[in-house]
Amino acid sequence: MAIPHFLTLMDLEPSQLRALVARAIELKEMQRTGKIHEPLKNRVLAMVFEKSSTRTRVSFETGMIQFGGQALFLSPRDTQLGRGEPLEDSARVLSRMVDGVMIRTYEHEKLERFAQHSKVPVINGLTDKFHPCQLLADMQTYYEHRGDIAGATVAWIGDGNNMCHSYINAARQFGFTLHIATPPHYQPDEAVRTTGGAAVRHFSDPREAARGAHLVVTDVWASMGQEEEQAQREKEFADFCVTRDMMALADKDALFMHCLPAHRGEEVEAAVIDGPHSVVWDEAENRLHAQKALLELLLA
Ligand code: CP
Ligand code: NVA
Repeated sequence: MAIPHFLTLMDLEPSQLRALVARAIELKEMQRTGKIHEPLKNRVLAMVFEKSSTRTRVSFETGMIQFGGQALFLSPRDTQLGRGEPLEDSARVLSRMVDGVMIRTYEHEKLERFAQHSKVPVINGLTDKFHPCQLLADMQTYYEHRGDIAGATVAWIGDGNNMCHSYINAARQFGFTLHIATPPHYQPDEAVRTTGGAAVRHFSDPREAARGAHLVVTDVWASMGQEEEQAQREKEFADFCVTRDMMALADKDALFMHCLPAHRGEEVEAAVIDGPHSVVWDEAENRLHAQKALLELLLA
């Protein structure tokens, strides 16, 4: 039987994704009411982080502990991965010991190679190309605040990056329309964009993209690994800050999301991220609940 990996949102059927969101909401309530649920007792998740993380690390680690299992934090600095041991060999060895592996790395292709040689489920904890776990939390958050996202309009403002790519996948899997506004040289990967089909539209003017949107989302202008482009990007993205004026063009009940960490005064005005449309703290918390639903599906 094929091993169920979660490398992108396209690895699950739309019905499975919807069930995950529903389960995440149940697990959140169970946690809130103190109900002990340990479907992963004695199971171990290895977490390989080649980039920094606060939310992803803490949510996976906490989720495994709450489920009765354990998580191992592995960094290239102190494992043989950082000293050139082949990825394929690391995948073979780790997957003979642990029950699942979460990886945060640069090239998406590295994650795919690891998965090909793993005997246990592999989860994408962010690559340069996709961030599917974040989308599970975002979809849960939308559902909790506004109900089903099917048929809604989402505006992505900023870089055509890993988060944007996962929003394109989500548009297809959850059935919403996605307006993408990026500066000219920062459009999403064309091959990814076409998977979104007619549901995805590109705008050069972020205000037009935001018009009537039920959800407005942005992310940093320079992602991890692009730090040296920060100054150049600040110039090119200057018109792509999500402001109160931009939010006023969206639906009056529009939500604002950001995967965090955020730079107030760059991609978003403080008055927006700290204002009435923002649900970023629920969104961050839901990383825990949504990933517990994912771990239960893949590892239990
Ligand atoms: N949103 C997100 O993935 O945050 P971290 O980089 O802190 O894990
Ligand atoms: N696009 C950002 C997301 C961080 C969670 C990055 O890759 O750095």
